[in-house]
Amino acid sequence: MVILGIDTSCDDTSASVVEEGVKIRSNVVSSQEIVHHRFGGIVPELASRRHVEMIWPVVDEALRSAHITLEDLSAIAVCHGPGLIGSLLVGCSFAKALCFSKGIPLVAVNHLEGHVFSSFLDKFPDGAYGGNEDSAAPAFEFPFISLIVSGGHTSLYRVDGFGKYRELGRTRDDAAGEAYDKVSKLLGLGYPGGPVIDRLACEGDPEAVVFPRAYLPEGLDFSFSGLKTAVMNHLKESHPRGINDIAASFQQAVIDVLLRKTEWAVTREGIFRVTVSGGVGANSALRRELTLFAKEREIQLSIPAASLCTDNAAMIAAAGYHHVRAHKLARMDMNPVAYLPLS
Ligand code: KG4
Ligand code: ZN
Repeated sequence: MVILGIDTSCDDTSASVVEEGVKIRSNVVSSQEIVHHRFGGIVPELASRRHVEMIWPVVDEALRSAHITLEDLSAIAVCHGPGLIGSLLVGCSFAKALCFSKGIPLVAVNHLEGHVFSSFLDKFPDGAYGGNEDSAAPAFEFPFISLIVSGGHTSLYRVDGFGKYRELGRTRDDAAGEAYDKVSKLLGLGYPGGPVIDRLACEGDPEAVVFPRAYLPEGLDFSFSGLKTAVMNHLKESHPRGINDIAASFQQAVIDVLLRKTEWAVTREGIFRVTVSGGVGANSALRRELTLFAKEREIQLSIPAASLCTDNAAMIAAAGYHHVRAHKLARMDMNPVAYLPLS
C-alpha cells in the first residue's frame, strides 16, 4: 500500500510517500522559518498564504523523489486537525480536490495520531532500520505510553492499538515547545526557540540557575508557564547568568519534568514501552537522558529520528495506513477542525 501524506497544520508544508505504513520513500518539508522568524512566533495569515504557494511544489517533489505518479497511490492521508484553521484548510482542500479528480481514497488523520505513529516509521518487524541511524529502538508492540512534546501539545497517552488512545495527562498552560519558543523570545533568540536553546545549552551549566519544576504530584498533567516566568524574573535580576547557563538551566528543568512524569505514567499503567515524539523530541539532551532513563529502568524506548519528531507528513501517511486497513475513509464533505482531541 502506497500512501501520500500531507500536513499543513502549522507552519511547515509537508508531503511524503510511505509504503506499508513504515517505509519512507520520500519526505519533503518546506519550512516557513524565514517567514515567521522576525515576528518571534507564527503569524497564522502568513502561514496559510505560504501553504497555498508551496503545497503543489512540495507534493510534486514528494511524488517525483518517490518515483511514482498519482495513479500509483492507494490513498491520500491529510491532517485535518488540530492546528491553525487557515493552514489546515489549504492541505484539506488540496487533498480533497486531488482525490475527487483522480478517484483516490481520502483519509483524514489527527495530527497527534501522526506523532504517535511516527515511532513506527522506517522500523521493520525484525528490528532493522530503514535509514534512521539515530533512532533508539526496534519495532513496537501495543500497548505503549506515548509522550508527545511539541509546540502545541505536551501530553501523555496510553495507546492500546490503532484508534485506542487514552489521554493520561496534558499541559494545563504552555506546551514544552511553546516554553522553549517563549524563553527564546525573552533571550532575543527568535523563532523557533528549541533548536537554538538546544545548541546554546550544550555550552552552559544546567545547574547554574535552579528554575522551578512543576511536578503537580496529584496527577500526570504538566505546567510550563511558571518556568517561563521564572526565566523572565531571573533576567530582571541585577546579575543574571550568561545566556548559555540560562539556556542549559531552563532546558534541564523541562527535561526533569518530562522524565519524572513519563516514569509515573509507566509505573501507574504498568507498561514498560514508551514512545516520544513531537518537535521537542528532537532535543539532543532530552534524547540522551531518555535513552539513559530507559536503560536504567529496563523500559523499551522508541524515539523517531529528529527529522521525524518535528512536523512531517510521513507520520500522517503512517497513521493513514492504519485508517485504510480499518476501512476508515473520509468523505468529500470532511472539514478541518482547529481543536481536535485524540482520545
Ligand atoms: O512537532 P512540532 O514540529 O510542531 C507542533 O506540532 O507544534 O514542534 C515544534 C516545536 C517548537 O516549539 C520548537 O521550538 C520545538 O518543537 N523544537 C525543539 C527542538 N526542535 C524543535 N525543542 C527543543 N529542542 C529542539 N532541538
Ligand atoms: Zn506536531
